[in-house]
Amino acid sequence: MATVLTLVGNRPQFVKAAAVSQHLRERVEEILVHSGQHYDRELSEVFFEELGLPPPAHELGVGSGSHAEQTGALLTAVEPVVHVIAPDALLVYGDTNTTLAGSLVAAKGRIPLAHIEAGMRSFDRAMPEEINRVVADCVSGLLLCSTETAVENLRSEGLAENARLIGDVMADVALRLGPIAERRSQALQRLRLEPRSYILATAHRAGNVDQPAQLERLLAVLARMAELAPVVIALHPRTRARIEALRASGQLESRGVRVIEPVGFLDFTCLLRQARAVLTDSGGVQKEAYLASVPCVTMRETTEWVETVELGWNRLVGLDPESAFEALEELQPRLGERTDASIYGDGEAGERAAAEIASWLRSSSAPQRVP
Ligand code: UD1
Ligand code: UDP
Repeated sequence: MATVLTLVGNRPQFVKAAAVSQHLRERVEEILVHSGQHYDRELSEVFFEELGLPPPAHELGVGSGSHAEQTGALLTAVEPVVHVIAPDALLVYGDTNTTLAGSLVAAKGRIPLAHIEAGMRSFDRAMPEEINRVVADCVSGLLLCSTETAVENLRSEGLAENARLIGDVMADVALRLGPIAERRSQALQRLRLEPRSYILATAHRAGNVDQPAQLERLLAVLARMAELAPVVIALHPRTRARIEALRASGQLESRGVRVIEPVGFLDFTCLLRQARAVLTDSGGVQKEAYLASVPCVTMRETTEWVETVELGWNRLVGLDPESAFEALEELQPRLGERTDASIYGDGEAGERAAAEIASWLRSSSAPQRVP
């Protein structure tokens, strides 16, 4: 049986792997390796518990740092594990520094690489994620795509030959666990929130929170939105640290923005599905809002999930408070309508990913390892 080393390390990657892992294990031996890029319980362990993702066979404990420190540490930690396991292929997800490091180790170690969520592009190289995605796609032998748009992006880069449209693996999880989250989670009661009364927010993009000037603008957007409805923000630790450094922690609560810790997937999904609107700069959360038929205002100038904008459920407002306010007012009437979830697949993308990986490994198109 072939061996596939799956490398994960960040919150959204645990969600994506949860859609694929069980199907992959029916076909190959999967060895799950956790880089440790995310390590707080609420950004890591809770996802393994709630999503039924098997515990990692190896935890590399790489942790945080600048891009150079973190990527360097990831490369140094991943390479020896890959040498010891000597997998037939490596599997990476998305666009984080963990994805980049796994891709480089595979490419230089001549190990076939499969990339899930290949072909996503914001066309904004100021985003570290865009660089990570482009590199991962360039060195991958199997490019598993969430959307037609992603396949087209790869085509225009001359990479279509190895691209396969499988649907979106995160959508599998959102569709499967959405109703379960609403039944099981007590998040609304715990936070004393009425359904459809609040705006659920998240923010963690480096470009939005690392520079004080940008962070001030982001705080202004949150405060302006709170004039329409109470805003609840599940604060990512990067953003919390930057707000504390700015000594602006009190500002949010006094302007009607309620700050909570990041929550587990079930609580977050329940909060999202019951929200009046979502305000975010996350990639995954834009898509989950669409799938839950909840209007979304995105604090970015670009998105990879262009369909959500084209279909009128998501508006890109950058960090402009007035644009955010107007976008939400315009989107509100959509609440109560249903989105077309099928643009992100049929809920079987994980199964399809596993089947594609297994057949790629059997076929001659998977580059052979040099002994
Ligand atoms: C990373 C990804 C981003 C992804 C996000 C998902 C990169 C370049 N960025 O961003 O694409 O959208 O994960 O959430 O890979 N921290 C903690 N505890 C943790 C993890 C981080 O306190 O468990 C704090 C540390 O201060 C750290 C900061 O958050 O310096 C940023 O963490 P890092 O993993 O570098 O980037 P994210 O912002 O999480
Ligand atoms: N998420 C969560 N709890 C939170 C915030 C987000 O479970 O407090 C989930 C969310 O449902 C989605 C994923 O985390 O599945 C998105 O991760 P994030 O926004 O950190 O990363 P991105 O998608 O921007 O890379």
